Amino acid sequence: MDGIAELRAKYLEEIGAASGADALEAVRLAALGKKGEISLKMRELGRMTPEERQVAGPALNALKDEIDAALRARKAALEDAALDERLKAEWLDVTLPGRPRPHGTIHPVSQVTEEMAAIFADMGFAVAEGPQIETDWYNFDALNIAPEHPARQEHDTFFLHRDAGDNRPPHVLRTHTSPVQIRAMQDQGAPIRVIAPGRVYRMDMDLTHTPMFHQIEGLAIDRDITMANLKWVLEEFFSAFFGQRVKTRFRASHFPFTEPSAEVDIQCSWVGGQLKVGEGDGWMEVLGSGMVHPHVLRAGGIDPDEWQGFAFGMGIDRMAMLKYGIPDLRAFFESDLRWLRHYGFGALEAPTLHAG
Ligand code: PHE
Repeated sequence: MDGIAELRAKYLEEIGAASGADALEAVRLAALGKKGEISLKMRELGRMTPEERQVAGPALNALKDEIDAALRARKAALEDAALDERLKAEWLDVTLPGRPRPHGTIHPVSQVTEEMAAIFADMGFAVAEGPQIETDWYNFDALNIAPEHPARQEHDTFFLHRDAGDNRPPHVLRTHTSPVQIRAMQDQGAPIRVIAPGRVYRMDMDLTHTPMFHQIEGLAIDRDITMANLKWVLEEFFSAFFGQRVKTRFRASHFPFTEPSAEVDIQCSWVGGQLKVGEGDGWMEVLGSGMVHPHVLRAGGIDPDEWQGFAFGMGIDRMAMLKYGIPDLRAFFESDLRWLRHYGFGALEAPTLHAG
């Protein structure tokens, strides 16, 4: 049949010359599309004599297949070339260091609270919680603090506002974590071993006081707990917390909710204006403690003829300052980013018993 060789040469050349997907599609339409040159030729087969068709048919079919295959091959080659181009243009160096992103730090109070909880947990103490807004019963009465006690007076305690005629009992911002003793005893009964870290509030503001600060309460009630257990627990705690043996000194004191009561000092030294815990012959007061008063046990629903135990309360912020050499208490709560970055802890510095 005439022209087959020419068609073949023409389209193979055009296919080879097509420089992109669009150009190639145009060639395909011109050759094999509905009105393409090769398609039209195939239609002519119908008008041929059988003898002519026997020759032209296979020749045209072969041409169609060859052009079709050439189109596909060219298409694949163009796609490969385009991919190579992209890979060259868009390469990525996965060995480059990552871009630093700003990230927050763990506040020293949070860190130290976790450290304390880890140490007490190891001695069998569970964490208990209570509300920061308390009734004056939990904050005072249940703790054997009489109505005329100075701690209740306005200059110490934040009372919540009450509208005239609102006769509900007064609510206060808790002035210590001791009300959690009562709640824990009511919830769990005896025997019990809990610590209760949290925020407390007092109307106080100077170099060493902020109106909100943090305490951790400890409470252990069983049948035969004594001051000796208290002393052991506290010395174990301080030694684990400061990473070295720390001596304690118990001084007789008074709290309405413990009897007898003791204030506890830890051993320290002042060398060149620097305070060091666990050495020297100085003492620093760090907590209040004592044997839980029978009235307090009763308020917690525990029979004082059967059970007895100790309680203590310690400032968390102060302990953080001592351990990490932080000089100013007020800076704790100013949210100054420079301070937070300097004194904050990384999120992965999880407190453990074996780490500093
Ligand atoms: N609640 C006392 C305070 O805030 C501390 C304390 C707790 C004392 C438990 C004795 C027993 O000062």
